[in-house]
Amino acid sequence: MLHTALCDLLGVRFPIIQGAMQGAGGPRLVAAVSNAGGLGVLPTFGGTALQLRADIARTRDLTDLPFAVNITPIGADFLLSRTRIVIEAGVRIVTTGRGDPGTPIVSMLKEAGIIVLPVVPSVAHALRVEAEGADAIIASGGEAGGHVGQVATMPLVPQVVDAVGVPVVAAGGIGDARGLVAALALGACGVQIGTRFIATEESDAPAWFKQKVLEARETDTMVTAALTGKTVRTIATPALREYEQALRRGATEDELRALRSRHRRTEAGERVAVAGQIAGMVNRISTVAAVIDELVQGAAELYERLGLELSDRAHAPLT
Ligand SMILES: Cc1cc2nc3c(=O)[nH]c(=O)nc-3n(C[C@H](O)[C@H](O)[C@H](O)COP(=O)(O)O)c2cc1C
Repeated sequence: MLHTALCDLLGVRFPIIQGAMQGAGGPRLVAAVSNAGGLGVLPTFGGTALQLRADIARTRDLTDLPFAVNITPIGADFLLSRTRIVIEAGVRIVTTGRGDPGTPIVSMLKEAGIIVLPVVPSVAHALRVEAEGADAIIASGGEAGGHVGQVATMPLVPQVVDAVGVPVVAAGGIGDARGLVAALALGACGVQIGTRFIATEESDAPAWFKQKVLEARETDTMVTAALTGKTVRTIATPALREYEQALRRGATEDELRALRSRHRRTEAGERVAVAGQIAGMVNRISTVAAVIDELVQGAAELYERLGLELSDRAHAPLT
C-alpha cells in the first residue's frame, strides 16, 4: 500500500519524509518518524560538528531504520566537515538545504556513495541538481516553513516532474492525507512534511513554539530575509512586519540594519516561530505514529472514494 519508487530508493515503508527542522526536529522526532515507516531527517544548519555526531549516535540508539541528515552548503569547509561526519557515521541518505548555489554539494556527496535528495525551489535548480547526479529531487513550494522560493507547490511540482527523469518529492503546504494524495496526483512519488511535525509529542520545539503553530491561522505567516539573509517563511511578528514594510518603501541600508537589530533585541519577547502556511490547519499535538497513520490510512480511504487503485507503479502513481 502506498508503495512508490521513493520507498525503494530510501528503504522505507511509506513515501513520507520529515523535512529537517532546525530548532524543532532532533533525534527523538527523527527516530520516531523512521520507526513509524517514514524517513526522519536530522538538521545541521547552525549546529556544531560535535552536535551532529552526538545527534547521529542518539538517533541510532532510538532506531535501526534508515534516517537522513540535512546539509545546507553554507561554505566549502562546513560542507566538507559535515560530509565527512556523515560518511564516518555510515549515514546513507542526505537531503541538501538552501545554500550557496555555486557549491558542488551533490557531486561531492555522490562521490562518497551517498543517496542525495536536494531541495529545490524551481525547474532550473532541479535540472542543475539532476545533472550533478541527484537520486531524487524535493520540489519545495513557497508556502513551506523555512527557506523558500517564489513558486507555490501546486504549479512547481508538476513542472519539475515534467522536466526531470528522477523521482520527485513534493514539499510545502502538505499537512494531511488530502495533501499527500494531491502530491501523488501531481506526479510526485512522495512528500516531505515539516510544519505538521512541529506539533508532535516527539518534536523538541519548545512549548511556546508548538502553541504558536496551534494558534496560527493560514494568513499568519510571512516571508522575510531579516532572519538569515535569505527568504524564510515564518509566523509573522510585529518587528518582522515593520522590517518588510521598510524594505518595500525603500528604506536605507542604515534604517534596515537598525530594524534588524531591533528585531533581534525584541526576538526574546516576540519569539520567532518558523512555520509554513499549513500551520492554519494544525490544531492539536499528536504522536508521530498517529500523524503517519492518519496520512497513510487517510490516503487509502481517499483513493477508494476517488475510485482509484493504489499501485506499485514507480514515478507517478495516479497516471
Ligand atoms: C522550523 C523549521 C525549520 C526548518 N529547518 C530546515 C533546515 O534546517 N534545513 C532544510 O533544508 N529545511 C528546513 N526546513 C524546511 C523543512 O525541511 C520542509 O521542507 C518544510 O517544512 C516543508 O514545508 P511545510 O512546512 O509546509 O510542511 C525547516 C522548516 C521548519 C518549519
